[in-house]
Amino acid sequence: MEPLSLNVLREKYLSFFESKGHLRLESFPLVPQNDNSLLLINAGMAPLKPYFKGERVPPRKRVTTCQKCVRTLDIDNVGKTSRHGTFFEMLGNFSFGDYFKEEAIPWAWEFLTKVLEIPESRLYPSVYVEDDEALEIWVKTGVPRERITKLGKDDNFWEIGAGPCGPCSEIYFDRGPEFGCGKPDCGPGCDCDRFLEFWNLVFTQYDRQEDGSMPELPHRNLDTGMGLERMAAIMQHKTANYDGDLMQHLIKLGEEISGKTYDADDYSGASRSLRIIADHSRGVYFMISDGILPGNEGREYVLRRLLRRAVFHGRLLGIEGAFLTKFIDEVNAQMGEAYPELLKNVALVKGIVASEEERFSTTLDNGRVYLDE
Ligand code: SER
Repeated sequence: MEPLSLNVLREKYLSFFESKGHLRLESFPLVPQNDNSLLLINAGMAPLKPYFKGERVPPRKRVTTCQKCVRTLDIDNVGKTSRHGTFFEMLGNFSFGDYFKEEAIPWAWEFLTKVLEIPESRLYPSVYVEDDEALEIWVKTGVPRERITKLGKDDNFWEIGAGPCGPCSEIYFDRGPEFGCGKPDCGPGCDCDRFLEFWNLVFTQYDRQEDGSMPELPHRNLDTGMGLERMAAIMQHKTANYDGDLMQHLIKLGEEISGKTYDADDYSGASRSLRIIADHSRGVYFMISDGILPGNEGREYVLRRLLRRAVFHGRLLGIEGAFLTKFIDEVNAQMGEAYPELLKNVALVKGIVASEEERFSTTLDNGRVYLDE
């Protein structure tokens, strides 16, 4: 298993699914189109809901994407753990009434074991407790039965608010017993750090309604999601999403600007602040370049909060003066090729970031004067 950079991994995934008849689409914008149920796109499948529901005809029944996503539910945990972040990229292959479990499972296995050359012994699938069909397909694909875990609704039934949902099969990477809790029943789904879930194959069959009911969709679909940062960290033999190559470039920039040192094993103090700045600055840039402006409500407030938290943590690190626009240049260097939209309005976005940063810095300065007094 060769260490691969995040950019190479993204390309390998998308071209593998192109070779299986999928149409590669650009990432959809972070602002949901015609969907009031979401503030921001939070999963690869979110912009594709009309195709799952049969409301619109997809450009092809098989599609693959790398979707930019933002989730802020756990914003207070960012920097304090190896996994939490707000902005992330989600790789996915999707079927709208076309292939289903019989193809999705062997293709996932082929990609992991043949393309990425991950040793089979490190991979553990889980299936929904009632889904014997998925279990048998995994066995037929070559996974020993005893390495497949049945899990309940909390782990293996995927839904996010109203919309398309269904039972799922997740794939875990075994980081080794040294990361485990040592309990006799430690396995996929355990809370400890040994088994890392990185790919979710959702067998999207139902349409969750606001009233809780769950009618069947007009056709059976497939929705998969693989967190690119997490997968890159696994491929690079790193423990945390933040320690993969792309995030490390942003963390190094934070180190240079602040003069502080990052410690991958420290989840407090300067290392926590460096992670927060790396994560939030990237999210801020992507959000503004998708047309969101800082404000006091909805997604505009989410943006303002991310930007202000980044500035605040800059202060905690002792950075004097504006620094956030420097991260824009680094994100461009790392991600501009994959997301050409970033490069279209760099000067405009920098101006918006700089003026919001200045306003908030003044507020912080006034607060400090007030506290000093
Ligand atoms: N929708 C599933 C997820 O977000 C798989 O794409 O995990």
